[in-house]
Amino acid sequence: NLQTQLGHYHFANVFMNASGVHCMTTQELDEVAASGAGTLVTKTGTLEARAGNPEPRFAPLQLGTINSMGLPNQGIDYYLDYAIAFQAKHPEQPIFLSVAGMKPEDFPVLAQKIEDSAFTGLTEFNLSCPNVPGKPQIAYDFDTTRNILQAIFAIFTKPAGVKLPPYFDLAQFDEVAAILNDFPLQFINSINSLGNGLFIDPATDTVLIKPKGGFGGIGGQYAKPIALANVRAFRQRLRPEIAIIGTGGVTTGRDAYELILCGASLVSVGSILATEGIGVFDRLSQELTAEMAAKGKNTIADFQGQLKTL
Ligand code: DHB
Repeated sequence: NLQTQLGHYHFANVFMNASGVHCMTTQELDEVAASGAGTLVTKTGTLEARAGNPEPRFAPLQLGTINSMGLPNQGIDYYLDYAIAFQAKHPEQPIFLSVAGMKPEDFPVLAQKIEDSAFTGLTEFNLSCPNVPGKPQIAYDFDTTRNILQAIFAIFTKPAGVKLPPYFDLAQFDEVAAILNDFPLQFINSINSLGNGLFIDPATDTVLIKPKGGFGGIGGQYAKPIALANVRAFRQRLRPEIAIIGTGGVTTGRDAYELILCGASLVSVGSILATEGIGVFDRLSQELTAEMAAKGKNTIADFQGQLKTL
């Protein structure tokens, strides 16, 4: 039994896509919805549609992926329309809408649009896109993060969360959690890709992707220990009502089990979905079910957050 919940929303299983992967078009979104995933999230939508960065902008690596997409997307209206149509067809299947501003002032505008719409699902405000040239990741600037959350929640009354980048210092977890705890968040999603890594082709001494001279967000197995630490560190610091979507390096059912041990309520997959395809959800569900059986766990609640320490 892989059922899970987040606030009053119930999901048939813990797995979903990570925003950006297999969710740009209505066709891709429909494919995730029809797969073994428990729910789905749209590509991060901005106020206006964007073409994104020049190609090549994504490459598979031995243990994950590198990308510098640059927020290509069809615009918020496209994804909002999709989400509203989806919920009319599937009233029992809540989904996530991901949005981001190109500047801080865009966030309340996006929030107002969603607030005024018929959307009844969950909204993920993405504070951690690493790839737009000249635009730092918002969530590494704690004052701007607080200001944006203040502007959003001055308007927004629907269930909302934030997508966060990885942090690497315990003092940062203290500081970020103290900010997040001041707002009526339903969830956080941790982590986004490891920002601005660099991969070099040994045959040609050349970078793999074109934008930003080859720098890009790293996902996949490279990210897993960082993701586990971030989910664990936030679970130890956030109010218990703020749920965590665990993201980062999930390749097997065991990886998902470990994120849940650290406190995740849902588990999203990016790199492995991009490289393996939509069948990954059934495989992960089977592997997680087998891992739970081997450990004598019947439900997610039987082990969620129950990491043992020495
Ligand atoms: C992009 C990459 C991300 O990791 C993200 O969270 C949002 C956008 C991108 O480059 O499109």
